[in-house]
Amino acid sequence: MATLPNPSGLLAVRDVHKRFATAAAPVEVLCGVSFELAAGEALALTGPSGSGKSTLLHLLGALDRPSEGTIEIAGSDPFALPEPELAGFRNRTIGFVFQDSHLLPQLTVLDNVLLPSLAFPGRSLAPAAARERAEALLARVGLGHRRAHRPAELSGGERQRAAVARALLLRPAVLLCDEPTGSLDRAAAANVADLLFELHAAEGTVLVAATHSLELAARFSRRFELVEGRCVEPSAA
Ligand SMILES: Nc1ncnc2c1ncn2[C@@H]1O[C@H](COP(=O)(O)OP(=O)(O)OP(=O)(O)O)[C@@H](O)[C@H]1O
Ligand SMILES: [Mg+2]
Repeated sequence: MATLPNPSGLLAVRDVHKRFATAAAPVEVLCGVSFELAAGEALALTGPSGSGKSTLLHLLGALDRPSEGTIEIAGSDPFALPEPELAGFRNRTIGFVFQDSHLLPQLTVLDNVLLPSLAFPGRSLAPAAARERAEALLARVGLGHRRAHRPAELSGGERQRAAVARALLLRPAVLLCDEPTGSLDRAAAANVADLLFELHAAEGTVLVAATHSLELAARFSRRFELVEGRCVEPSAA
């Protein structure tokens, strides 16, 4: 794997552009995004609907490739890897929490949390250690008593807490959240946000979250607003 010259920064984004080819005309969503985040930092991404928050999160999670520019994650360029290795890198290094939790309905809550450990058997946590950590995380997010339940039997806030536990199972260096509290009421949103920050502090992950909530964004040590495809400090917007 290619190693780039930024060992101290966990996430380094340099002049990233993202274009989508569409039937109508190419859509340029990101036009030169650059920033660095060190271990322990937390970044909120704000901006209107369609400004590119999810697009940028997908690039940071190596789920999609930039059209131009580089993204370095934990000292490596993931896009230099062939696809099977890229999937392994994602699995080990990145936790992703989606707006609607994306839990598998047919699995119990515990099995959902264990899923990341099953993707690359032999290169992940041993089954007993994975189960121990999954149970500890579920207890930590207040769902120890719900581990044998199916996602449909949980509230929206409980499902988001289970999704946070799943994202943290393999101790990712980077935790990415796409509107993690977007579908929750105020109390449940505050509860999930408290949990994100507690785990971010305890596990030392870089945390990046896209949000429409200025209340949530205010809790982050760093904030960027996406304006015309670039990241700007919200006060300068
Ligand atoms: N696969 C795609 N093909 C074409 N255009 C796309 C694609 N994905 C995203 N876009 C466009 O990129 C722009 C940014 O979308 P994105 O989902 O990143 O916005 P967002 O800031 O997350 O919005 P929201 O707050 O509504 O979630 C939109 O105009 C969208 O139509
Ligand atoms: Mg979005």
